[in-house]
Amino acid sequence: MKRTRISRIGLGLLLGLNSACLLAAEGPAVPQPGQSKDDFINQLMGQMTQQEKIGQLRLVSVGPDHPKPVLLDEIAAGTTGAIFNTVVRPGIRDLQDAAMKSRLKIPLFFAYDVVHGHRTVFPIGLGLAASWDMGAVATSARIAAEEASADGLNLTYSPTVDIARDPRWGRVSEGFGEDTYLVSRIAETVVKSYQGKGLDQPGTIMAGVKHFALYGAGEGGRDYNTVDMSLPRMFQDSLPPYRAAIDAGAGAVMVSLNSVNGVPSTANKWLLQDVLRQQWGYKGVLLSDHGAVMELIKHGVAGEPREAARLAIAAGVEMNMNDDLYGKELPELLKAGAIQQSDIDRACRDVLAAKWDMGLFKDPYRYLQGADPVDTDAESRLHRAEARDVARKGMVLLKNQGDVLPLKRNSTIALIGPLADSKRDVMGSWSAAGKAFQAVTVLEGMGHATRGKGALLYAKGANVTNDEEIIKYLNEYNQDVVIDKRSPQAMIDEAVAKAKMADVVVAVVGEAQGMAHEASSKANLRISASQLDLLKALKATGKPLVLVLMNGRPLDLRWESENADAMLETWFSGTEGGNAIADVLFGDYNPAGKLAMTFPRSVGQIPIYYNHLNTGRPFDHEHPNKYTSRYFDSQNGPLYPFGYGLSYTSFSVSDVKLSSAKMHKGDTLTARVTVKNTGKRAGETVVQLYLRDLVASISRPVKELKGFRKVMLQPGESKVVEFPIREQDLRFYDGSLRYASEPGDFKVMIGLDSDDVKEGQFTLL
Ligand code: BGC
Repeated sequence: MKRTRISRIGLGLLLGLNSACLLAAEGPAVPQPGQSKDDFINQLMGQMTQQEKIGQLRLVSVGPDHPKPVLLDEIAAGTTGAIFNTVVRPGIRDLQDAAMKSRLKIPLFFAYDVVHGHRTVFPIGLGLAASWDMGAVATSARIAAEEASADGLNLTYSPTVDIARDPRWGRVSEGFGEDTYLVSRIAETVVKSYQGKGLDQPGTIMAGVKHFALYGAGEGGRDYNTVDMSLPRMFQDSLPPYRAAIDAGAGAVMVSLNSVNGVPSTANKWLLQDVLRQQWGYKGVLLSDHGAVMELIKHGVAGEPREAARLAIAAGVEMNMNDDLYGKELPELLKAGAIQQSDIDRACRDVLAAKWDMGLFKDPYRYLQGADPVDTDAESRLHRAEARDVARKGMVLLKNQGDVLPLKRNSTIALIGPLADSKRDVMGSWSAAGKAFQAVTVLEGMGHATRGKGALLYAKGANVTNDEEIIKYLNEYNQDVVIDKRSPQAMIDEAVAKAKMADVVVAVVGEAQGMAHEASSKANLRISASQLDLLKALKATGKPLVLVLMNGRPLDLRWESENADAMLETWFSGTEGGNAIADVLFGDYNPAGKLAMTFPRSVGQIPIYYNHLNTGRPFDHEHPNKYTSRYFDSQNGPLYPFGYGLSYTSFSVSDVKLSSAKMHKGDTLTARVTVKNTGKRAGETVVQLYLRDLVASISRPVKELKGFRKVMLQPGESKVVEFPIREQDLRFYDGSLRYASEPGDFKVMIGLDSDDVKEGQFTLL
């Protein structure tokens, strides 16, 4: 599905392949017993030619720009550092064999976008985040690492920890939502789960956290767009998740494609050196994004390719993904004195260090040992039980009027909708090495659940869109969207006929997976007209209407929320999606997911997020006033707030009790509530702690998430939930970027979503 195409003319010549080939072959780069990493790398670098050092900085994908035979020669000449997008062991072995023919036998590493699972596909990031369940997050990442390493991979370009507050951006699907605290907790969990107890352990892969930095804050939600952000907000809200991933030990960082306050990240010395290296002490390797070095020309900070390469290497971008500019331009830049030998040495050292950490010098074939699987796509390689469990944990019940859910198995159910039987869509975008034929659709999942019991009637009812341009866009690379050639009315008629025969209608609607991906920003967040027409016709039958939403971003669901009886947000839930959805619909699993991103009422409210500032004229629902911060044609608040999600049971939360009304620095206060299951089923909920600094040197948000606990309660059962609050939890970046707490009053809010909270208050002395 890729994009920047760079001419390869003269690359071999510029890389000095011929001269490199003429150097005498030397022994393999293997550490001596007891040799330290630094010592080994120093020794190795002492043997390397300039071309070999620069070669280590090339991160290449086999493809039209790099046909395999040419690439094999380049690798054998010692002028390639790593490969991405090759995901099967025989392919990887061929490439590593070529590296073992090179003079110094420096192994390649192999990378891939293992974003939400590898062969077994788990829910998209936004769905995983909605579980608020670090055990589930850890399971999905650990299995992804096991499966990816079993295919020979050493590094993944994930987790994506960009804070996302604009659902127009397609990549909100990939990250973990809008909140700094929640995204940071997930970031560290994912990194630790990928990397295990150490990358030398089996079944681990290196995490490549991305996209550094602020990729989620592009103006207008348009992918790749400009980011302009105040420094306090940047440090307070957007940078912490990257830092959390780094503090958790992420071995690689991918630099973002956007500019940050005027300077593209790829050329941003302040971001990459001052913040990342110096302030945060990051020691790992820094990768460019795809074609990003060349894009410095279009950003308008470099006049020509050589200058682009100079800016990127000087800023500290160490591996250049797929545009070959380092290979071509660095030798000349060095000769001309425009860059220093130390720029190249530093980058080469970090690449070699990453390879050392991956255990590749000890064994370049460490993930290629043993026989290759006879069938790469073998069913036995999947982790279905875990995928099903994690998928259902991320589902969010948005509405359940009259307890229409759970469904009764012995009823007649009309299952309708363009996404009800789509194997490709249920997997979501960035579904890595997952195979659609192995995915379970909602039709299949409900079929398993109702077999021998009630009746399941199915009709597609509509195409996911009737807009020819959008279909063309979605099918540009693969025929992912299969269009039913019948007229829209004929499809609706069939669906309505089935609906009329049923006790309840379940409509599976939302987005095609390609609508929530890279380069898939949207200006309109309503579901397509074809699907809305279908829903209106189904509604007109008078049958109870349950919506199963399958989508990768918050949508404008005003019509749906008013007209459907129940709505279950299932995201793109992965290989076992259909079974997991059936588990929730039939009540075999009681939903407990909570939104990780605010659902707006309309596009016009964006950006809308729960932790906004109060303003000097906040709108007050109870005493509406014209000259307050509001829209005159829309309500102020979201349709569904951050942290929101229902259950098949109900919960109550007691008043907040604080262990003290005063906190001295160094104290730990305890905030306590009692949560009770007031309904008839066992269920889990997520108790959320928010804090507000009432008066400070700069305006502080109306609330900020500072803790959460997921609790399971039997009917009638109560549990005391306690949150420690420390002075560190009250710190923030002030106008001069000083990170400290300020004495004064703080509000404590605890509840089951960000809107519905109980309050307490204390004073920091
Ligand atoms: C994306 C990255 C991805 C890379 C390699 C880029 O276009 O922005 O997130 O890791 O491609 O596939």
